[in-house]
Amino acid sequence: MSKKRSILFVTSESVPYAKSGGLADVAGALSKTLAENGHKVTVVMPYYASISPELTHSDEAPFSMNVWMGDTEEWCLVHPKKICENLDYFFIDYQNYFFREGMYHNLVMQDYLDNPKRFAFLSQAALYLCKTKQIKIDVVHAHDWQSSAALAYLKTHHYNDEFLGEAAGVLTIHNIGYQGKYPKNDYSYLGFREEDFNQNIFEDFGGINLLKGGIHFADMVNTVSPTYANETLTPDYSHGLDRFLHMKGEQYIGILNGVDYSEWDPSNDTLIPQKYNIKSMSGKASCKVALRKHYGLTDNETPIIGIVSRMAEQKGLHLLANCIEAIIKNMQVQFAILGSGDKELENYFASLPAKYPGQIGVQIGYDNKLAHMIEAGANFFIMPSLYEPCGLNQIYSLRYGTLPIVRATGGLEDTVEQYNETTGDGTGFKFYDATERAIYNTVGWAVSTFYDRPEHYGVMQNRAMQKSFSWKDSAKRYEMAYENAIEKKKKHDRI
Ligand code: ADP
Ligand code: GLC
Repeated sequence: MSKKRSILFVTSESVPYAKSGGLADVAGALSKTLAENGHKVTVVMPYYASISPELTHSDEAPFSMNVWMGDTEEWCLVHPKKICENLDYFFIDYQNYFFREGMYHNLVMQDYLDNPKRFAFLSQAALYLCKTKQIKIDVVHAHDWQSSAALAYLKTHHYNDEFLGEAAGVLTIHNIGYQGKYPKNDYSYLGFREEDFNQNIFEDFGGINLLKGGIHFADMVNTVSPTYANETLTPDYSHGLDRFLHMKGEQYIGILNGVDYSEWDPSNDTLIPQKYNIKSMSGKASCKVALRKHYGLTDNETPIIGIVSRMAEQKGLHLLANCIEAIIKNMQVQFAILGSGDKELENYFASLPAKYPGQIGVQIGYDNKLAHMIEAGANFFIMPSLYEPCGLNQIYSLRYGTLPIVRATGGLEDTVEQYNETTGDGTGFKFYDATERAIYNTVGWAVSTFYDRPEHYGVMQNRAMQKSFSWKDSAKRYEMAYENAIEKKKKHDRI
């Protein structure tokens, strides 16, 4: 039984308040599981314009708080919300920074240029919150570049602080492709030490790299699957940071994400037309009928391949774009696609239903209910990612008996077991090359399994649905990482 700790989560997203991707699922579910395990968890996140006041409503009154950013004193409002005994959320309400149309970029996907100021402010505000509310912290847990600055402030500004001085810093890298790289202009506003603007800490080709600084100041760094941890130690996957991860030695590990089965399980999912489970699969057929209807897909016997994704290069959808028409022309299969992001990809996929009516359905946008309907109603779920730190949708797919077709990288490699055509073993279909040919062939393999070896398809569904990637197991690994970080911090009093 691990020691009960006081943990500060600093995050730019968390469900159910604000979400652009899996980070929100993880921040929401991991903080909840740690609280259930008896730790005291304080979550600090921005109060974005998109967060509805009903969600943050609480009996506790908002209060104002001052935050020092270098020499600049800022004031913000903080909205507290007690979720349960050990779990408190605090929403940082600073309209100038967070009351905008998007979280990180505007509606045409241009990054806000003052992002370093916005998220360094969030990071510093989270630490000031602990001082203001007198919450003594054992571990500051930062997520991605957006809260990396918290670890720098922790180890410098708050080094001797009564409430923060003993805290260790843990950084989770959910995606090394996003590092928070910006011009140096705002360095003095951020209030980092001048000497920390060097090649081993914040400096990167003359600009600031927030994630790199976070890696330096963290006592433990982890990413979200063991395979991605290994991959990011190589230049092909590290986006330039492998050297700095190597420097962490045993202080850099992979911890596989869990999933929240209270949200993502067909036996208790309230967002799908009919619930089902391994013993009674008829509900899945009803879900397929509803999905077909939603997308105007014809013919209920044809297998459907689902996609729910950010449309970003990482996800390999440009490769799928190069072969999806050949797939539709040559195979008896249909697609149900939901996603948003890159405008070129959005436009391309949005053009397909008119060209292949009844065979390809596409909805551009963000729609949580439809995401659940796709998981439940499809036969297969495809993720041709170039890289995938963990990936949650393939894990959801397993539980819904919707067999994943994935590129064997990162968490996709760690969570999907390859189909064996002789024995029927496995839970999905994996390919290795990041090419349209590999995608085409593997989709062909999956589709032929559906038609020609239906007994294998059924057994695989059954096996997939029994897999469990619960947060209970992953949270234990985080608890161990926290203890290691605390040990490390004690040994090396100053980094
Ligand atoms: P990433 O964080 O890289 O986007 P993950 O697989 O870890 O990838 O998590 C993505 C999460 O976001 C999943 O919960 C998925 O269902 C959700 N999601 C992604 N795009 C959409 C969308 N267009 N509509 C609804 N949910 C989406
Ligand atoms: C990132 C990754 C994704 C991972 C998620 C949550 O957005 O792209 O693979 O599952 O974070 O950790």
